[in-house]
Amino acid sequence: MKEVIIYVQQNKTFFYLPVVLLLALLLNHIRTYKLRNTVRKTLKDNNILNEDTSIYSMTNSSVFVLNAKHSKKERYQEALQIITEIMKEKYYLKRIFNIAIIKKFPGLKKNQKGIFLQSTENGKIEKYKLPKNSNGLAILAKSGSGKSILANSLILQLNITDYLFVSPKGNEDNELGKYPNEAESEILEIIEKANRGEYKNKNTKYIFLDETITLSEIFSKETIRKIATSFSICRSQNLKWILMSQKINKNSGIDFSLINQKIINTPDAKNFEDSLGVKITTPLNSLKLGEFLFYDEEEKILINKI
Ligand SMILES: Nc1ncnc2c1ncn2[C@@H]1O[C@H](COP(=O)(O)OP(=O)(O)OP(=O)(O)O)[C@@H](O)[C@H]1O
Ligand SMILES: [Mg+2]
Repeated sequence: MKEVIIYVQQNKTFFYLPVVLLLALLLNHIRTYKLRNTVRKTLKDNNILNEDTSIYSMTNSSVFVLNAKHSKKERYQEALQIITEIMKEKYYLKRIFNIAIIKKFPGLKKNQKGIFLQSTENGKIEKYKLPKNSNGLAILAKSGSGKSILANSLILQLNITDYLFVSPKGNEDNELGKYPNEAESEILEIIEKANRGEYKNKNTKYIFLDETITLSEIFSKETIRKIATSFSICRSQNLKWILMSQKINKNSGIDFSLINQKIINTPDAKNFEDSLGVKITTPLNSLKLGEFLFYDEEEKILINKI
């Protein structure tokens, strides 16, 4: 008699599926734990947690707060700042009926390069342009935050061809860079020409002053006075200033508040909010290398992706 062995292939899908699902849920729970907990704790500490509020997150970039009270909108904005500070990532708030969604700002696409502005209200991203009627940009940011790199990115993005780049480091950061003593008389000449209207229309001239406060200690008082005066009159003459500095020294004779657009990433900037005419709301520690706070009328994030 022949022996027949029959193998029965058991379909294990039904056994594994719930296990895989459970594992995925558990992993997601762990992954989103920090954000969820930070949101819960911050809302609780700020007294904006209702009895029936529940907090969910499907990904570690957004959290849903169910039964969030509309009346506490202002307090939500304050909580958002704390969450941003703890998570070291920037978040914004979306409201749908009684649901508050706290969402991480979208980043740039992998292949996107250049200088962009991101709205702190809704995370929208636009390419940076320097308005025609602006007298320039003051980049006030700490050492190593990417000021000089940003200046070079500006030259590329704004297609700047006619410029003078002055730095205590000469041509270390820009190939056309000049030392202050080489450039002082040229600056005065440019200001004179701007006053005569020689840079009108498509002929815009740019002066970059890297480490402006250091330069102001080297230039003569008369030169500083002429530079400072030019901030208020050059708008119509198409001379634009790009000032970079780690320090905001009010006694230097350089008043950065007169420059239309400002970029800030310097820890002591809060002390100068009034004199600079800005209101800093996004925590500076949530900024990564090459990111700055930007002020024109409202606060935005400036991203320089190289
Ligand atoms: N947008 C960026 N993306 C990536 N890395 C950057 C970016 N900007 C700057 N870096 C890095 O940070 C370093 C410092 O940048 P940079 O020299 O522009 O800083 P800085 O603010 O001018 O510093 P300092 O005040 O010392 O002159 C660069 O050498 C570069 O490696
Ligand atoms: Mg520099």
